[in-house]
Amino acid sequence: MSNKEKLDTLLKKRAEAYLGGGKEKIDKRHESGRLTARERLALLFDPGTFQEHGLFMHHRCTNFGLENKEFPGEGVVTGMGSVADRVVYSASQDFTVAGGSVGEFTAKKITDVMDQALKTGDPFVFINDSGGARIQEGVDALSGYGHIFYRNVLMSGVVPQISIIAGPCAGGAAYSPALTDFIIQVEHEGQMFITGPSVIKQVTGEDVSSEELGGAESHSHYSGVVHFTAQNGHEAMNLCRRLLSFLPSNNTEEPPAIPTETSQLMGPEEHLRNLIPDDPKEPYDMHNVILNLVDNADFLEVQEHFAPNIIIGFARVSGHTVGVVANQPLEKAGVLDIDSSSKAARFIRFCNAFNIPLVTLVDVPGFMPGVDQEYGGIIRHGAKMLFAYGAATVPKVTLIVRKAYGGAYLAMCSKEMGADKVYAWPYAEVAVMGAEGATSILYNKDIKNAENPTEVLAEKTSEYKEAFTTPYVAAGRGYIDDVIDPAETKMVLVGALEALRTKREIRPQKKHGLIPL
Ligand code: HXC
Repeated sequence: MSNKEKLDTLLKKRAEAYLGGGKEKIDKRHESGRLTARERLALLFDPGTFQEHGLFMHHRCTNFGLENKEFPGEGVVTGMGSVADRVVYSASQDFTVAGGSVGEFTAKKITDVMDQALKTGDPFVFINDSGGARIQEGVDALSGYGHIFYRNVLMSGVVPQISIIAGPCAGGAAYSPALTDFIIQVEHEGQMFITGPSVIKQVTGEDVSSEELGGAESHSHYSGVVHFTAQNGHEAMNLCRRLLSFLPSNNTEEPPAIPTETSQLMGPEEHLRNLIPDDPKEPYDMHNVILNLVDNADFLEVQEHFAPNIIIGFARVSGHTVGVVANQPLEKAGVLDIDSSSKAARFIRFCNAFNIPLVTLVDVPGFMPGVDQEYGGIIRHGAKMLFAYGAATVPKVTLIVRKAYGGAYLAMCSKEMGADKVYAWPYAEVAVMGAEGATSILYNKDIKNAENPTEVLAEKTSEYKEAFTTPYVAAGRGYIDDVIDPAETKMVLVGALEALRTKREIRPQKKHGLIPL
């Protein structure tokens, strides 16, 4: 064979492999508004930067008539490329090839790029669109998944891992995304569940559609499994690029900084004085406070629809990434409950693992009372927040915006839990509990025996408010570093984060702590 013929053979083989399961199946996907595995990668990476890995890898299964069966690319496209000029590795399952099912060599292709990402310290993005373990390959397929899960665990906390659910992701296959840091689910296209509707019908008798069970709404609103939803494949890939822009490539690096004007030079901003209402009982949208404090009002909210009584997400302050954790008075008065505690704790641990300073905005009336909460383990789940903040060694800056009551005062990164800087607005109320609750306990008998109980309650409540629901008692003891004019908030935040950039904190050596799971 001449070199020309050899080259033609390569080009022919490539062209065939690029077609995956064939034109008919690709057309079918396009008709249903879905992208192919390769189109998704083209949107994820900077144009022309993707280098493919293992295009010609081939299964060796001979069961159920597979001996002569070609599965182009083994049902997955893998490789690396640049996202905003930084290297990222990816695997994109090709549903047109045997339903994107994962066989021994599909898994090998995926774990090869995972190993490389770990070696070079670069993020890994796994685009899921698959019928799961390739049935014909039996235990070899299960083993393949095992190798993927194991890599997910090894990579955890070393490089960021992002999963995109762009098609079916059923059975044990759903545990790879669950082991990664962030999951983006495409609405109406991605579905994720451990057991599908027919098994559920057989076992529990419940009738449920796959969309109701494992669609984007279910996981973003109810289960909390998914961190972001996207309307379509294009949006999912853009979202993934945006998320990566806030993150470092690995745990030894700082997140990329974007040069900006320093807010410190800008001077006080009077409009910040009016961000919260005069009436301490009136709710307001904490998003508004966040957007006014971060660069260009650019805030990437994580798990927006799950446990909305706490807000978490990424932003930048003077060009540097920060993780924001903030109570949301608009939802359940911003109380901490089981879901909001777990949500925030996981996010705090991600930020700590990847050198992202934490900015905590506090307006919290306490932990949620109730039998459901106690039986559901609010003690264990609430403790996750205390643990996560206490264990975090990244810079931690806390601003008490309004209420900081009881255990929730500590759980929202108080000085005692290792905050490096705690500031309070003059409207802050730092106390063991709210005035009405406190006085009705302290003066229970006086109120009962009074001729006019309402008057006595009002009088005692007012005395309590005067004495305790201000920031000055806490500031007097050094629990708050400074009570600031809200107009200075951005300057103060920029200054504190700048100073803390070189923070080093040495802790005793241990294998790992035992976060209350
Ligand atoms: C082999 C598979 C397959 C699989 C789909 N296909 N899933 N081949 N192993 N797991 C093939 C089909 O035979 C078909 O081949 C092609 O992919 C497209 O599948 P369709 O069924 O025609 O597509 P659709 O109607 O869109 O339905 C998609 C689907 C369904 C919902 C994903 O295929 C399905 O239910 N598949 C099985 C899901 C499952 O139970 N998987 C095992 C889960 S357990 P042709 O040749 O006709 O194109 C698991 C364990 C993980 O994954 C282990 C971790 C511990």
